[in-house]
Amino acid sequence: MAKNQTEHQVELQEAYKDSILVFVMNLFHIINTAIIFIICVKSKRAITTKPSSRNYQSNIPLFWKIANKRDISSSQPKRFIFNDYPIAIYKDAESQKVKAISDICIHRGASLSHGKIRNNCVQCPYHGWEYKDGLVDHIPGLPDTKRNAFGVPRFEIEEINDDIYLRPSYDMNSQKGTLYNHTIYVPPEASDPDFVRITGMRHIHRPNHLITENVLDMMHISYVHSFGNTLSPIPFKIDYEDISPLSGKTTFHYTSGPTSMSRLIGGAQFVQVENEFHLPDATVTRVKANGITKTIITHCYPIGKNESILHFDLYRNFLKHTWFDPMFRYQMKLTLDEDVDIINYIYDDYVQGFMSNQFDVTQIKYRQKMKQLFVQINEK
Ligand code: FES
Ligand SMILES: [Fe+2]
Repeated sequence: MAKNQTEHQVELQEAYKDSILVFVMNLFHIINTAIIFIICVKSKRAITTKPSSRNYQSNIPLFWKIANKRDISSSQPKRFIFNDYPIAIYKDAESQKVKAISDICIHRGASLSHGKIRNNCVQCPYHGWEYKDGLVDHIPGLPDTKRNAFGVPRFEIEEINDDIYLRPSYDMNSQKGTLYNHTIYVPPEASDPDFVRITGMRHIHRPNHLITENVLDMMHISYVHSFGNTLSPIPFKIDYEDISPLSGKTTFHYTSGPTSMSRLIGGAQFVQVENEFHLPDATVTRVKANGITKTIITHCYPIGKNESILHFDLYRNFLKHTWFDPMFRYQMKLTLDEDVDIINYIYDDYVQGFMSNQFDVTQIKYRQKMKQLFVQINEK
């Protein structure tokens, strides 16, 4: 009996030793996996890109509409300047995905968008270095060059409804820069089969925020625009609502003018105008009267401090035949000519003015939310 007890104790000790061994082996395995993971992460971070993140990390780290897919080719990169920083955008022939890389060749600073697409790489026009997704893949005469180790920054792209959105603040190659989570604004009209769309863009020599604020300013319409409702320029009711930390909407109620499109086509006595902003770059002006709706979407990005690109879309659920497109294009051109004429003469140092009233609510909310966004980004 005593012997049995001893045997039992020995068995227990053996089992104890075994479980310690299993525990140590498991621990060793976990540490090993962690080390491999850290090495992988570190080696990913080890990709070097130039120029440094100082050149782009202060851009607002949200997606900005930069182009339409039809502007981008798979044979030749195209140059876009975002906030004084040059970016080459092209379509990857294999994946058909749009890619955006820094336009500055790391060898001697040539413009990559002046090169060609070769072997599904962007080939620099100066000495033929080839970049795959922004990383040097081949240097002529140096076949042993390490691939995927160095190159230029590559920026995130999102494609929605053939529109190309760029995040100009974060390099996916070196994983440096700034990020901010948000949903890209897409208007409901874009997926509504009842609407047709025309698109266009305009190069304007004014700051992007000034152009955006002008689109959010309803009270200028009757004074600046030839289609303005001169009989009842003052809305009889205004409602502002916050949509999200990045967006807001004001609804203006007007009496329609006797020669306005809403009166002539829709026979409407009243017109409702919804004016929205969606940071960082989008505005909506939706004119509704008796079931007819015309919606203008704008996206404006900075080329530099006093130079911008304004993209516009006009959606309509009336006069839908393409025969009417030239008329709506002409109306957009005239509208933008008139807008540019007035904003060219706003004094640079006084773009925010000294006072405002209840009719300026949308621009004021746009400024406030933009400020809050800056605070949040800087706190990160
Ligand atoms: S400058 Fe681009 S390869 Fe020399
Ligand atoms: Fe205007």
